[in-house]
Amino acid sequence: MARRASSASTRKRRRPESALVVLPGNEAFAARLARRLRLRAQRVEIHTFPDGESRARLPATSGYRDTIVLATLARPNECIMPLLLAAGALRDHGARRLTLVAPYLAYMRQDRAFRPGEGVSARHFARLLSQHFDALVTIDPHLHRISALDQVFSIPARVLHAAPAIADWIATQVRRPVIVGPDSESAQWVRQVAALAAVPYVVLDKVRRGDRRVRIRLPAGGDWLQRTPVLVDDIIASAGTMIEAVRSLRAAGTAAPVCVGVHALLAGDAVQGLARAGIAQLATCNSIPHPSNAIDLAPLVAAALPLPR
Ligand code: R5P
Repeated sequence: MARRASSASTRKRRRPESALVVLPGNEAFAARLARRLRLRAQRVEIHTFPDGESRARLPATSGYRDTIVLATLARPNECIMPLLLAAGALRDHGARRLTLVAPYLAYMRQDRAFRPGEGVSARHFARLLSQHFDALVTIDPHLHRISALDQVFSIPARVLHAAPAIADWIATQVRRPVIVGPDSESAQWVRQVAALAAVPYVVLDKVRRGDRRVRIRLPAGGDWLQRTPVLVDDIIASAGTMIEAVRSLRAAGTAAPVCVGVHALLAGDAVQGLARAGIAQLATCNSIPHPSNAIDLAPLVAAALPLPR
């Protein structure tokens, strides 16, 4: 009895020190996360002055000692300055430990200098975040030539995986699926999703020819062509990759493919392009808010918090 009372009072003592602070645009994910963490989601107000400068204002003046900061990093150039100003305001108001929860981590695809004179943006972006936060939690960052976040981050960085949530969604929503990876980089996600959903998979061959132009080749035909293709990729940006994969699949005679993306960047007319290519459905995870969000990753993030020190 005495033991129970003391652990209950420990919980009571710890809770006021934990805060969940949310950058604008992350409200839907924040509400789900807050419910699971039993914290109140506190929205940072970002004011933009006529000259384009911003100002961050916290909703309270104290209670931020140990704070989770939720900010997905789609459109990173717009997001980063408000995020850094919010981190500064939190430090000004007593924050000792700031854990950045960035369900989507930007800039990871520029993981080497592809042409002479280019910088390795992944490294520079990671260095910047490491200077302002004490820990990072993210979901399926684009790890390819950089194989682990600790190669570029100097703070503890925890990587979570959407594969179990995606596999559950496919298993309940798609009849006789075959998981299709549009390129070799997607093989890591596709293999895992297929194993969890206990269904076959294939990986296509992609050559990128420009920001939006890719060429895709299918492996030799087989029984899988009779199944419903479920294209799975970590990022759908211009959707050029998915669109070309859909075209190749349709040309080979498959049923209309379902497209699943972890991170729905969906720039410009990506959604219309997918519809024109003839997809059956677009289903994305909610790491980036979008009307196609069908797979909730808030439980995954909640289960990882607080990070062990
Ligand atoms: C790159 O290898 C990624 O995994 C995605 O395939 C890529 O970022 C998708 O970009 P887009 O939608 O512009 O083709």
